[in-house]
Amino acid sequence: MSEITLDLRGVDKSRAYAELDGHVRAVLEGVDDPITAMATVSCLVHHAFGHLWTGFYRVVAPGLLRVGPYQGTLGCLEIPFGKGVCGTAAAEERAVVVADVASFPGHISCDGRSRSEIVLPVKDRSGTLVAVFDVDSDRVGAFGAADEAGLARIVAWFAGR
Ligand code: SME
Repeated sequence: MSEITLDLRGVDKSRAYAELDGHVRAVLEGVDDPITAMATVSCLVHHAFGHLWTGFYRVVAPGLLRVGPYQGTLGCLEIPFGKGVCGTAAAEERAVVVADVASFPGHISCDGRSRSEIVLPVKDRSGTLVAVFDVDSDRVGAFGAADEAGLARIVAWFAGR
């Protein structure tokens, strides 16, 4: 198992995500525990890019997300489907990229320094939504298509286990 935490700041994003995905899969080799995987993915993605907040909100009841493993300052504990960026991604089961949180109506501010974010749906093998993966930055416009593709590839681990 590779036990290092990569620092990929300054590396071209598509190359960075390819490297990170390989690293995540190597570290999770033989693991079949989704919470262990959520903690590991949060840690590796967070430190690879120096994000503000990186973590999972799990679907714990119909229409309700509850915080799971994460890195960063205190996250909101629960988010109903349809609320904020996470709740929108969950309700619509699609990735949501917000270049400037100030222009997203209903954005839930857990950390006042958050300026942009990306949230992706996380599905299990049967295609059921089990969580969303939320990454926040203190910079406006930090996320784009390369992040969406790279992070989608990483969270596909949950559909493949
Ligand atoms: N930004 C999220 C809320 C969760 S935190 O920022 C950790 C949202 O609007 O969905």
